Amino acid sequence: MRALLFVKWELSVNSTNNFFEEAQIFLNNYKFFIKLADLQTSGRGRENRSWISPKGGLWFTIYTESSSPKENLKLHFASSIAVHTSLNKLFGINTILKWPNDIYFKDKKLCGILTEAKNQIAAIGIGLNLNNSSSLTKSMIIKTPSDTKFQPISCKDILSRAVTNEEKISLLLEIVKNMNNLKSLSLEEIVKIWKSNPNILGKSIYLKTNGKIIHTKAVDLTPEGALICESDKGKNIIYTGDILGF
Ligand code: BTN
Repeated sequence: MRALLFVKWELSVNSTNNFFEEAQIFLNNYKFFIKLADLQTSGRGRENRSWISPKGGLWFTIYTESSSPKENLKLHFASSIAVHTSLNKLFGINTILKWPNDIYFKDKKLCGILTEAKNQIAAIGIGLNLNNSSSLTKSMIIKTPSDTKFQPISCKDILSRAVTNEEKISLLLEIVKNMNNLKSLSLEEIVKIWKSNPNILGKSIYLKTNGKIIHTKAVDLTPEGALICESDKGKNIIYTGDILGF
């Protein structure tokens, strides 16, 4: 039987999502391998955006075995549930899940998740603004048609105090504990749990999909996690896209 977790905490890396080879070795003996870094010099976001990662943020990647694209998607949704649940339990912070990969506090971005996969390993990269000044992450913001509010926020801003190193470690472990519990469930079960938590369903959204920005309403997720939108022209199922505003 494999042990649960091996964590490697570095001072600086290019991106914690770049360690598949190291992960492959650790995953022979551990169910999860985590690469955690105080700062990243080339942090990445979705759609080739850069993710500015100064000291003070919680920048880490959970590596675990994954046998298919469906399982990668499941782990992706599971990770946002894990972060949401952990922030609520440890700090009483109530976040909103934004399809497909963000965690918001009110109308501000607190956390982004980038899931990548290689050779039957999923890398779930989690970027959580913890103590970093939110102004430093502004360059990742996309201007939206209606947008003056879509700014980043950090736990420090929400709590009006810095998060301690002990709390940072507890948060990391709580997230992995939740991931471990969720990993045995199916994608359909995970999507149901995602929908039962506060999320963007029911809201009017600006959605960027296939290079176009449309104004529509997010109404539901399919059992496999695609977004169902509704406008005057009827319902649409969106498999990949970015919600720019809600
Ligand atoms: C997004 O919102 O576009 C996803 C951002 C993901 C950032 C995290 S930080 C840890 C991991 N390493 C990276 O380079 N990216 C992810």
